[in-house]
Amino acid sequence: MSALVVDDADDSAVASRWAVETHGLTKRFGDNVAVGGVELLVPRGCAFGYLGPNGAGKTTLIRVLLGLTHADAGTMSLLGYAVPKHRDVALARVGAIVDEPRFHGHLTGRQNLQILAAAREPAARERIGPALERVGMAHRADDRVAKYSMGMRQRLGVAACLLGDPQLLILDEPMNGLDPAGMHEMRDMILSLVAEGRTVVLSSHLLDEVERTCDAVAIVDQGRIIRQGPILELLAGASLDLQVECSQPDQARALIERTNIGAQVEVGPTGLDLTLPAGTAREVIAEINRVLVESGIRVYRLQPIQASLESWFLQVTSRLGDTQ
Ligand SMILES: Nc1ncnc2c1ncn2[C@@H]1O[C@H](COP(=O)(O)OP(=O)(O)O)[C@@H](O)[C@H]1O
Ligand SMILES: [Mg+2]
Repeated sequence: MSALVVDDADDSAVASRWAVETHGLTKRFGDNVAVGGVELLVPRGCAFGYLGPNGAGKTTLIRVLLGLTHADAGTMSLLGYAVPKHRDVALARVGAIVDEPRFHGHLTGRQNLQILAAAREPAARERIGPALERVGMAHRADDRVAKYSMGMRQRLGVAACLLGDPQLLILDEPMNGLDPAGMHEMRDMILSLVAEGRTVVLSSHLLDEVERTCDAVAIVDQGRIIRQGPILELLAGASLDLQVECSQPDQARALIERTNIGAQVEVGPTGLDLTLPAGTAREVIAEINRVLVESGIRVYRLQPIQASLESWFLQVTSRLGDTQ
């Protein structure tokens, strides 16, 4: 799918459905490919997770998108504006936190925002109060940043992003260094930004947080995207685990292995653990039940287990490992 990428910076012409679109984006450090031929498509109006282990190239990709470092190859656009050609127009609509948000510790939160607003359009000054309210920092706005916790700094970072009323927020590991309560607040904040129609791209190495926060995800390893798409669609491509609590598990196993269901069967303490191939229909579960019951095995419980993003991620990466 290719989208319209605006080549003249006419606002009304921006029709791209992608908030971020890259093709063949590549960044090397010597022989080290930090970003390798990345084809990233981030739909507008969603929370999108760029998920991968430390060193996968997440921060580097974000730095390339923002023009903080140059790409060696490839093209990219933000909100339909080709960059670097229209970087200034694009970045006026983008808010970003790269690595950790950096502030002057001896100044208050509000004073830090005043400095940042002074570098933007006049309306940015008016947004300071509402932005502080928005991130739940109004009551601490006049304390020095040096006294802030990591979670408060992250929230002030989001407030700084909001000064530009951005359509796109790019947050590099926004959950880093936060305690569980801080993560919860950050997640709610991201979801509320998306509910307002903004797009939030976040990078993370925390599978769990991405699964809870994001609608869509790109999984990245060693600079390359392994898979991307809506989380629900990706999970639909995962194998299905089925727990079967029954009598005579060894006999049950033999019966199932004789069918053409293609299940991997293990005998567990209370029965069988089955792994069914991706795309297995619900009817197959009923069929397993029939086969067992008709052979005189007593079935107490049949329970499909929804694959989590984590088990799916492990499946994808282990498959990769097989082919290398
Ligand atoms: N400025 C740099 N100079 C040389 N190598 C770098 C630089 N920045 C990042 N790298 C390398 O690029 C790879 C990706 O790093 P990074 O983008 O920071 O990953 P992530 O953010 O996913 O942890 C790593 O191997 C890292 O060592
Ligand atoms: Mg990083």
